[in-house]
Amino acid sequence: MCRPRKRKKRILFVDSDAFVLSALRRSLRCRDMEWQLAFAASVDSALAAMEANPAQVLVSGITLPGEGGIAFLEAIERNHPATARVILSGVCMYDEVARAQRVAHLYVTKPWSKNQLTQIVRSALALHDLLCLSGLPGALTRVAVSEAQWPEWPRQHAAIVERMHSANGITVRELASMIEQNPDMAQRLLNIVNSGLLGATPLRGKLEHAIRVFGINALSSLVLAMEIFAATGNADEERHALLSAALAASMAGRDAAEYAFTAALLHDVGLLYWPDHEPECTTGDGAIGHAELGAYLLATWGMPAPVIEAMAHHHHPMRNLDAERAQERDCAMVARAAGHVADGLANENRGRSPVIEQAAVDTLQFGGDLSSWRELTADLGARYDAKNSKNSRHSGSNSRRVTRPK
Ligand SMILES: [Fe+2]
Ligand SMILES: [Fe+2]
Repeated sequence: MCRPRKRKKRILFVDSDAFVLSALRRSLRCRDMEWQLAFAASVDSALAAMEANPAQVLVSGITLPGEGGIAFLEAIERNHPATARVILSGVCMYDEVARAQRVAHLYVTKPWSKNQLTQIVRSALALHDLLCLSGLPGALTRVAVSEAQWPEWPRQHAAIVERMHSANGITVRELASMIEQNPDMAQRLLNIVNSGLLGATPLRGKLEHAIRVFGINALSSLVLAMEIFAATGNADEERHALLSAALAASMAGRDAAEYAFTAALLHDVGLLYWPDHEPECTTGDGAIGHAELGAYLLATWGMPAPVIEAMAHHHHPMRNLDAERAQERDCAMVARAAGHVADGLANENRGRSPVIEQAAVDTLQFGGDLSSWRELTADLGARYDAKNSKNSRHSGSNSRRVTRPK
């Protein structure tokens, strides 16, 4: 039987620099069978191309002639709200990021590798599917209007990201000193890392050592999470987030651990910011829940695409996947699966009965058995509770390394 041919997803790249456009074209040539790639060297030709044949994903430079990239993306947002908008920028100043975040779903800084570019486009396509499924842009407007404000990017994390994206990046020492400017934050992070909840306990328990052990990105994400929890004040959700993050990082394996950790740590931020809006946020066939809202919010705060994707799909990790993608085990896919399974186990640990999708467990290649992961969850939960118990005279610190169950 003749089956209808699946329409290729269209990706439009816009940049006034011919060298950038041809580098993009070369990098994605091997994806020609999979995607319909289009290129425009000016705002006018890009707008005309979008009118003639709207793209699912638009990847644009930020410095375009005329009114510039921001005004161009605002026009796209108005006329094609379901198109996922990605900015590929060579320069990254805080003011520029802040402006771009109002109009772009994803903000990516150069240089990028061929594999990263493929990953960015895939994540943007997943975001496009998410926007279509949930009718998200309209609902976000309604939420923002009814709340009278969209949450402000927590200051300490915003400052860290600005430094990370600066020409020289950020060193471990610099990150440690930025965090130490807020002694409460520094102490909170030390309590978490020294509890053993996240795995290895850093030698001598110093913040700088903790950053070297767990990585700059993981500690930056912890800063963001702690700022959010301080603002929203939900101790049960804080425990749930930390437990989920520790499990997800351990499940994901080395390559995807960082993405899985951050996505699991922040997966329920939509719930924290909009606890009362959840039942109201439904449009058309799609329901807009805290997963989609949280993912969208974090996209506007510059989180990497695999983190956004894993957050958005943490309740339905196999949603919006075509057959080929579902078979792949790239970082975003592993982070999706790890985030879902870790969330499920952490929810079981607090007495809930979540559905853990078998396909996600299979993606993580555990051999289908979660019993040893349940034991690890109980162990981590007990460590956290011991550390946080007011009656405990001991810190709960435990230098035993958390290992991935076989
Ligand atoms: Fe959730
Ligand atoms: Fe959760």
